[in-house]
Amino acid sequence: MERRTYLDHAATTRPDPRVIEAMLPYYADHWANPSSVYVEAQAARRGLEGARRSVAACIGCQPEEVVFTGGGSEADNLAIRGVAEASRRRGDHVITTRIEHHAVLHACERLEREGWRVTYLDVDSEGFIDLQQLERAVDDRTVVVSIMLANNEVGTLEPVAEAARVVKRANPRCAVHTDAVQAVGLLPVNVDDLGVDLLTMAAHKFYGPKGVGALYVRPRTPIQPLILGGSQEQRLRAGTENVAGAVGLATALQLASDEMPSRAAHCRRLRDRLLDELPRAVTGAHITGSRDRDRRLPSNASFCFEGVEGESVLLQLDLAGIAASSGSACTTGSLEPSHVLTAMRVPPELARSSLRLTVGRESTDEEIDRLLAVLPGAVERLRALAPTSR
Ligand SMILES: Cc1ncc(COP(=O)(O)O)c(C=O)c1O
Repeated sequence: MERRTYLDHAATTRPDPRVIEAMLPYYADHWANPSSVYVEAQAARRGLEGARRSVAACIGCQPEEVVFTGGGSEADNLAIRGVAEASRRRGDHVITTRIEHHAVLHACERLEREGWRVTYLDVDSEGFIDLQQLERAVDDRTVVVSIMLANNEVGTLEPVAEAARVVKRANPRCAVHTDAVQAVGLLPVNVDDLGVDLLTMAAHKFYGPKGVGALYVRPRTPIQPLILGGSQEQRLRAGTENVAGAVGLATALQLASDEMPSRAAHCRRLRDRLLDELPRAVTGAHITGSRDRDRRLPSNASFCFEGVEGESVLLQLDLAGIAASSGSACTTGSLEPSHVLTAMRVPPELARSSLRLTVGRESTDEEIDRLLAVLPGAVERLRALAPTSR
């Protein structure tokens, strides 16, 4: 088979064989319902509760503060809608940013249709929120503030700990949520250091299985379940638990924590090669996101190119054996420029030419060489086909 180069680790990652191995017994042997009373259920229950303890230890919380969900989107929805639902009598206002993942934005938009006030914080040209704007936005009717830890398109790291302090100073009862889906597994994440009440993660972004995530919920945070039924997951998420998924998430997170320094250094080095070498190789290339490399994800190198369509670049790369993304996977295929780049005031023609390259633990220098060999010619060919669009 043709050798492929995968540079889309922000979309998802290949499950680590050690994770799959840890999950298999929970499909083959310990498949009983963990809520049942008989002996067979005990191994499943031990697996589930062991996973919860392990996740809690990795993010610095207590096991009962971890709620397993069906992925990052569900955890985001639970955090925002769940807190809003539980806080109706106290407030009518939610704050988020213009550059969140659609799992957060669409949850907020639905709240708006239901009569809530939602403030969408602006970002600057590198994707950073303004803490003063946040401070002005919080009022005594604000019930939840949701600010992502790392942006999935451009990799900018938001000042979540500072933001949480600003919010708590202005309204101590307001809950703070962070969507940490892109950061967990790559950067150290501790809920007390961040000062957040709710934190979202998704296993498939750190070499775990798809369709399983977790929401950290600080004790005494007002929150209602979205999915009603049994009393699983501290009554916050009904349904027979995905035991193998929870074990997979916990194993992947433990491996990511153990191997974090070497994985991050490896990613950072390859990312820096892309950030340094790509603009030299391709004329009219602009880096998007934070220029301060310590304030962007160690895995993310994102760009815009004058005079080409991002989708066409992706097709050319795919033909050359390289998998990449034009931004967030869910906006791929639509001609609308990304809401993230629009919020960063990238002009629409340039925003339509975005390319996101995200490296991972298995990425190699040879793959970066291949990308750098293919991309300049691909961009030039596309420009030659559409000379008037420059
Ligand atoms: C920042 C962010 N939040 C939420 C999600 C949604 O996670 P999931 O696909 O597990 O539902 C993603 C996935 O791309 C993401 O990047």
